Amino acid sequence: MKTLRLDIISGDYDKNIKIASDILKSGGIVAVPTETVYGLAASALDDNAIKNVFKAKGRPQDNPLIVHISGMDMLRKVAREIPDTAIKCAKAFWPGPFTMVLKRTDLVAESVCGGLDTVAIRMPSEQSIRDIIECSGLPLAAPSANTSGMPSPTTYTHVLNDLDGKIDAVVCGNDCLVGVESTVVSLFGEKPRLLRPGAITLEQLKEVLPDIEVDKAVFAEPEKNAKVSSPGMKYKHYSPKTEAFLVEGSSKDFAEFVNGKENSLALCFSEDEEFISTKYMVYGTKSDESTLAKNVFSALRDVDNENATSVYIHAPSKSGVGLAVYNRLIRAAAYKVIKL
Ligand code: TXA
Ligand code: MG
Repeated sequence: MKTLRLDIISGDYDKNIKIASDILKSGGIVAVPTETVYGLAASALDDNAIKNVFKAKGRPQDNPLIVHISGMDMLRKVAREIPDTAIKCAKAFWPGPFTMVLKRTDLVAESVCGGLDTVAIRMPSEQSIRDIIECSGLPLAAPSANTSGMPSPTTYTHVLNDLDGKIDAVVCGNDCLVGVESTVVSLFGEKPRLLRPGAITLEQLKEVLPDIEVDKAVFAEPEKNAKVSSPGMKYKHYSPKTEAFLVEGSSKDFAEFVNGKENSLALCFSEDEEFISTKYMVYGTKSDESTLAKNVFSALRDVDNENATSVYIHAPSKSGVGLAVYNRLIRAAAYKVIKL
């Protein structure tokens, strides 16, 4: 299949948004920018199109997708119960990098929800995906537009590296501002539960949902065969091909640990640079976690170009957006965490 490039930066924006919408309406699959990461979109009402999304990504069928909407009327079409907490969260965090899991309606295609009675819903802030939802009139199911297991894509070049020839089109827009996927919170149970941390931080969530619980899988490896609240958390994720380790400690201790390690690479903060004498790459500033979030996936892709046997990644703090970066990195390192 030839993958169409729809350039919305130097090309005709309106025309390309219309082409993307028409492809989606006729059952095709299109990668689109969002403020978090690029998504691989299909109509959330079209079971066959959704199956093609799973196929193109090589994604396990029981790992459900997020449905993207552009307004509250669309929310009522896909969710059958909307608790007060959902309205509060929508007011506080939408449009933006926030996803809520609610009881679903029958309108949503079975394969979107991986056999569950619930659906994950997000109203993105990125204008181009909002325009495509409006123009097509469709809620769009969209997982991250990477090959399953690879780091999520934050540029259209990442998307093409993974999926060129496997999808109908890519909307070529700006690089993603946030860089890590949305915060996912389940709101259908007795208590709200944080399933995946993102740019809407736990501190922000607590202001709206004071009794929110944090799922164990946010920090640690789910036990084998355990029932997980968010199926995505049990799969290997974001891994570079180079063997990765996450290292917790101060700049000095980190540098002492990596300096002199043969055939290895350090993925670190700009604050570490003055101490490091081995090969390294910087992925942001320790004191500004949003730079780490924006760069982390791109850096994980670049690591594999360095021909190192192992990469030692300096762990961010677990507060603010740092928690989201930490959560992605423990998965990239297959839970190999070294505490100095
Ligand atoms: O920022 C994002 O959320 C991006 C962009 C494209 O919007 N999308 C994204 O989708 O990250 P994906 O498929 O890579 O991640 C969806 C996550 C998975 O961890 C999945 O298990 C969880 O949401 N999820 C989806 N439906 C769920 C449900 N009904 N119950 C619990 N977890 C669910
Ligand atoms: Mg993903």
